[in-house]
Parts: sequence; C-alpha cells; structure tokens
Amino acid sequence: MTRSHSIAVLPGDGIGPEVVSCALQVLDAAEARHGFTTERREYAAGAGHYLETGELFAAVEEELRDADAILFGSMGDPRVTPGILERGFILEMRQRFQQAANVRPVRLYPGVPTPIADLTPERCELVIVRENTEGAYVGRGSTVHAGTPHAVAMQESLNTRAGIERVVDFSFRLALGRRRRLTLCHKTNILVAAGQLWQQVVAELGERYPEVEVDYVHVDAMCFHLPLTPERFDVVVTDNLFGDIITDLGAVIQGGLGVATSANLNLDGTAPSMFEAIHGSAPDIAGTGTANPAGAILSLALMLGHLGEGEAARAVEAATVEVLGGLPALAGPAMGLSTGEIGSRIADLVRSGEASAELVPDSLLGTLAALPASRR
Ligand code: IPM
Ligand code: MG
Repeated sequence: MTRSHSIAVLPGDGIGPEVVSCALQVLDAAEARHGFTTERREYAAGAGHYLETGELFAAVEEELRDADAILFGSMGDPRVTPGILERGFILEMRQRFQQAANVRPVRLYPGVPTPIADLTPERCELVIVRENTEGAYVGRGSTVHAGTPHAVAMQESLNTRAGIERVVDFSFRLALGRRRRLTLCHKTNILVAAGQLWQQVVAELGERYPEVEVDYVHVDAMCFHLPLTPERFDVVVTDNLFGDIITDLGAVIQGGLGVATSANLNLDGTAPSMFEAIHGSAPDIAGTGTANPAGAILSLALMLGHLGEGEAARAVEAATVEVLGGLPALAGPAMGLSTGEIGSRIADLVRSGEASAELVPDSLLGTLAALPASRR
C-alpha cells in the first residue's frame, strides 16, 4: 500500500503563500519520485483572516490536531498590532501542541555566499535546539503605575525541570547520531536560578550519554564563537529567548534568513509538529516574486524526514542546495530568478532525481534520523 500522510498547510501572510506554494510544488515532485502520497488541507490563518473574523489559533486547533504534520508559511502584517498574531497564533500553537524542541540547523551550503570571510561548508554544520514552550515566552509579567514616571514592569521567565529535561534529552539523542558533542548555551553567571537548573539537568542526563562530550558557552560568548569558529559546535541546546536570538545570527552565517529553516517538534506524539522557514512575512516584498523560497522548501525537507520519508527529504535538500549554489545572490531581484522559477527548478530536479546527493553533508542524515517519528 502506498504510504500516505495528512498535512495541514498554513500559508499565512505576506510572502508566506508564495514560498509555501513553491514548497507544495516540490512536494508534488517528491511524491511522484519517491512513492508516497499526501492528503493536504489548507487553512486560512494570519492577519487577513484575523482582521476579517477575529479568529486566532483556537479556531483551528482541533482540526490541526489530527494532521500528521503542519507546514507553515509566515505570519504578520502592518495592519495588525505587533504581538497579536505572534502570541495568539505562533506561540499558542507551539505551546498548545507542546512543540517542545525548535530544531534549527545552521549549515553553510556549497556555493552559498556567507558574510564570514573564509568560512567553508565543512566548518559550518551544526544544529541549534531551542526550548520552545517556556522561558520568557510564557508571556507572564505585570505592570504597576503604568503611564506614570514610576511605571514598573516585571517580565518573568519560566523554567521547569520537565520542560528542560525533554529538550535536553532530545538534544543528547540528536548529538548521538551526529558528531557527539552537546553545548549548553545560557547565561549562568547572571541568570543564576534558571542557569543552575539547566546546568543540573545537562549534568544529570549527561551521565546517560557518556559517549557525548558536554560543553558550556555563555550566550554572549556564543555570539563571538558562532560566526568565527562554528566548527566548535555540533548540537547546541539553549533556552527560548537565547535560541531566538542566536538562530538569527546562525541564519546570517549560513547566507541569510532566506535559507534558514526550522522544525517545531512535539516530542511525545500527542500533537503534530510544525515546520517553517525562519523568515517573517516580509510584507514589503510580498507579491514581487523576489522572496527566496529555499527556507520554506528546506522546512519541507525536515518535515519529510519527520514523516519517515528520509530518501525524499535528502533529495529535496540536495536539489535545493544545487539550485541555491547557482544563484548570484540569495535575496531580492539580484537572485536573477523569481520565487516561482526557483521553486520550479528545485521541483524539476527532485522529479528527475538528478540532484547530486554529495551536496548534502552526511551529518544531516543523523539529524533527520534523530527527529522523532510522526504520530503514524
Ligand atoms: C522565530 C520568530 C518568532 C519567535 C516570532 C515571530 C514570534 O522570531 O520563530 O524565531 O520569536 O519565536
Ligand atoms: Mg526569531
């Protein structure tokens, strides 16, 4: 029987629909070549839908829950007050579906320009695992004397042992399938309470994984080491806010937000995982055909790995890398090809099976293999 997967598609706002449509075209090609099918359901979500209906994540939660995986475009629009969609949809989904680990590979692909002089693909192949449901992202806090010169703002960061354990354990397993090195990134010298709990958990779980070498780097020092000596890192595990910040830095190192991608993984099979490019909705260039769809297509590759379609995942990544390596620039009109043309080229390569698998570093196989299986 043909393997089949049910996928919820949320194109969202701005450039989201354009890049997701490229990813779906590549998915068609992958299905034709690799012998599986998907049943796709598209959902209206994002700024336009919110402005019309007032609906946020709660309106689709139950329907999305049944999907094997979620493919997400981007969300955000200048007409909606900043924070409403971020908290009411994106963070709500990560929390309600307990997408505990935000896996963000930082890979410099062959032929892709990086602003870091002399950096080579061999030296830049790491994965950042960001805790995705807690920390400062719980949105707890309070304001007293608002609007007066004595205004007081308290913003809390929540850190639970269970929340840290699940993401640290996942990171150890990921490291086992790769170069066997795990780095905790935090700020233990200042955020002492949270830092101690993170360090304790890493030390305790580390005893179960004696093959993995454990390392620690402060988040400020990470901003120094990551661009200059990325080869020092294999898997980096960190809290929600630090992860948000250092993965943008990681994206710059690997050529920009247009190529960076992520998997928001539910680790216990109770709800679907979600796959998205790291870039935002970029409303200023929406509809101009100048967005790079690579980030969205690489998130499709991660999704395929998660669904157990490892061969298709590698083929999609290899085809994307081949096309990316031939572009004169990674963003804007200077790319020389439109969003749709890049998508079609990648889809054609996937369909013909002609992309060179050598373009994909081996360690991605470990990354994909360690992703927890989808719910079916
Ligand atoms: C990201 C984004 C989100 C975050 C925003 C859009 C809420 O920056 O996925 O990194 O802060 O997590
Ligand atoms: Mg971010």
